[in-house]
Amino acid sequence: MPKPGKTKFQIDLRRHLREHYVNENLTHLICEIAEASKYIIHSISTGDLGVAGTSNLYGEQQLELDVLADRIMRKRLDHSRVVANMMSEEMDEIIPVSPDCDGKYSVAFDPLDGSSLVDVNLAVGTIVSIFEGCDLLQPGRRQVAAVYILYGPRTTLVYSVGKGVHEFGMNMLREYTLLQENIMIKPQGNLYSPGGQRNLYTPGVEAFVTKLEKRGVKLRYSGGFVPDINQILLKGQGIFFYPHLQNMPEGKLRLLFELSPMAYLIEQAGGAASDGRKPILDLLPTQIHERSPVFIGCKKDVAMAEEMIRKFENDKESGVNKNS
Ligand code: AHG
Ligand code: MN
Ligand code: MN
Repeated sequence: MPKPGKTKFQIDLRRHLREHYVNENLTHLICEIAEASKYIIHSISTGDLGVAGTSNLYGEQQLELDVLADRIMRKRLDHSRVVANMMSEEMDEIIPVSPDCDGKYSVAFDPLDGSSLVDVNLAVGTIVSIFEGCDLLQPGRRQVAAVYILYGPRTTLVYSVGKGVHEFGMNMLREYTLLQENIMIKPQGNLYSPGGQRNLYTPGVEAFVTKLEKRGVKLRYSGGFVPDINQILLKGQGIFFYPHLQNMPEGKLRLLFELSPMAYLIEQAGGAASDGRKPILDLLPTQIHERSPVFIGCKKDVAMAEEMIRKFENDKESGVNKNS
C-alpha cells in the first residue's frame, strides 16, 4: 500500500516520469532499465550461482550471474533506440551503440552489484548512471539521471532526474508503482556502514570512526553497496564509507557506475558524497574503471570525515605526533 496520504490508485513509473515532464527518450530509457530488472530478478532466483570461467577488467572472477545480468542490460539498452554509448563493470571498454548523439544517452551500469552475496541470499542490486549525448567520461554532476534497483525481500526501484528522489515497489503484476516521493536525509545520523578492513584504515579515518562510535552510532554493513545506501536513504540518515586503505589508496568502489550514480541520488536527497577531500560529483574520471574512496550520506557526518582526514594529513605533514 502507498504511504499514508498517497493517492489511492497506484502511480506507475512511466506515469510518474511523464508527470515530472521527463522527456520521452529519457522516460523510455528509464522504463527499459526497469523492464531489464524483471529478467535480472528471474536470473537471480533461478540462475546458476557458479563462476563463468571469465574475469572482468579488474581481474575479478565473473559469476554466471554477473555475465547474465550484463547481457540482459546490454540487450535492452542496445534495442532501446535511445542509447549512444554504454559501459558496465563487466565490459572491458565502452560499447558504441549509435553514432549520433542528439537526443540519445550514454549509460554506465553495474548490472549486479554485490553478486557474490547471492549465494548467501543477501540483497543485491543494479546501479545505472545516465548522461546526455555520447560522453561517459564527465564529472558525475553532469548526469541527467541515476537509477538503482534493489533485489531484496521486496524489489524496489529508486530514481532521480534532478527533481527529487523517488521510490517504487514491484507489485504482483511486476509493475513498479510509487511508494514515496522526494526522499530526504537528515544532516546527521546514527548508523554507519564501514567498508574495507579497519586495520588498514589511515589515522584520519580511524579517528573519524572513533568519533562516530563515541557518539553511539550503530554499525550496519551488509557488504552490498545498494542495500547499504538504500538503508541510509529510507531511514533518512547514516553514512557509508569505503575509504582509502593503506594498501588501496584509491579504495575499492568504481566511480562511473557505482559512486557517481549513488552520489547523485544522495545529493538529491540532501546528503553529501566525498572522496575524503572533495565531492564525488566533481571528480573528472580519466578512465572507465577509475576507483575512488567514498564517504556518502548525512552532510555533517561526511564533513566530519573530511575534517578528520584533513587534520591528520596536516599533522603528518607538520610532523605532529599523531597520538596527540
Ligand atoms: P560488485 O559485486 O559489483 O563487485 O561490488 C561489490 C562492492 C559493493 O557492493 C560493496 O560495497 C563492496 O564491494 C563490499 O566490499 P568488501 O567485500 O570488501 O566489504
Ligand atoms: Mn559493484
Ligand atoms: Mn557488479
